[in-house]
Amino acid sequence: MKILVTGGLGYIGSHTAVALQQAGFEVLIVDNMSNSSIDVLEDIASITGETPQFKYLDLRNKEDVHHYFKTHREIDGIIHFAASKAVGESVENPLLYYENNLSTLVYLLQECAKYEIQNFIFSSSCTVYGEPDRLPITEKAPIKKATSPYGNTKQISEEIIFDTTQVSALKAIALRYFNPIGAHESVEIGELPLGVPQNLVPFITQTAIGLREQLAVFGDDYPTEDGTCIRDYIHVMDLAEAHVIALQRLLEKKNKTPFEVFNVGTGKGSSVLEVIQAFENVSQMPLNYKVVNRRPGDVTAVYADTGLANNELGWKAKRNLEESLRSAWKWEQKVKLKKKDY
Ligand code: UFG
Repeated sequence: MKILVTGGLGYIGSHTAVALQQAGFEVLIVDNMSNSSIDVLEDIASITGETPQFKYLDLRNKEDVHHYFKTHREIDGIIHFAASKAVGESVENPLLYYENNLSTLVYLLQECAKYEIQNFIFSSSCTVYGEPDRLPITEKAPIKKATSPYGNTKQISEEIIFDTTQVSALKAIALRYFNPIGAHESVEIGELPLGVPQNLVPFITQTAIGLREQLAVFGDDYPTEDGTCIRDYIHVMDLAEAHVIALQRLLEKKNKTPFEVFNVGTGKGSSVLEVIQAFENVSQMPLNYKVVNRRPGDVTAVYADTGLANNELGWKAKRNLEESLRSAWKWEQKVKLKKKDY
């Protein structure tokens, strides 16, 4: 079966491409390389022995999208990752986010209707929940007003997909990711943040390797046990495997409704200081960090209720925080050796 992975050279996309190939799917990748490198294609092949079919495609170009589908028949399903994902940048440049994340989705869904592609997995985020009233968060938690244009695009995308499934043959699953970290165990692929990392774990590993002077811990006056924010950090390969299982659910017509959503997290919350501590254990070295002011927009605590994903989807995260951090650290060391571009 042929599966189109949009944004398949990116962080989560590349790991999912590997998981798909290992599950026996033929993978087609499109990517505009705005935040990824063509080298990833061969890195994927070095793990699986198979180079995915690749085409440079900017999904904002409707004509090009149409041409791609016209010339690539027999796509059985789509996993749609291609999108912009930096919260701060989305506040600075909302229209870029609405165009990159929404018009592209509309064009893709139009082609799905034209070419009768019925299976669609969407890359959503726990950001759709905002500051939760109750923890752990279930999929039934209310969707609150988004705190950034990025978050808003994820909410609107889910609505666009839901509405489409109500009037067409499309079946879709939105996976609401918590905080993906780590790298494939082969360390052939991993996260390659552009510039200064915004996310905690790449900032930690880059500090440990000497690329950054010091990690700033954003606030220790939150109402949590040690005062730092709590998140649900999930190994990127666990997340990748969730996509394969979700896709199989649609292909085997096991979905209960045309549009389903699942939380994809571990169910365990870890504070920023706990992550630092776990990283120090894994790397056997102290991390240079300093507590600074809160970062605007951060919620206090978010972690998943994974009951629905465990029981209904039949998926469960297998790797723990230490394992995830170990792979992130190995990856950082490998990147340094290979002198990959930061
Ligand atoms: N943090 C630091 N220092 C840093 C970076 C992060 O202390 O240099 C803290 C943050 O304050 C937060 C935690 O580490 O408490 C995690 O921060 P990340 O930026 O790694 O992750 P977020 O939870 O803020 O963001 C993630 C995704 C977003 C998504 C968001 C939804 O990266 O794409 O979850 O809440 F929108």
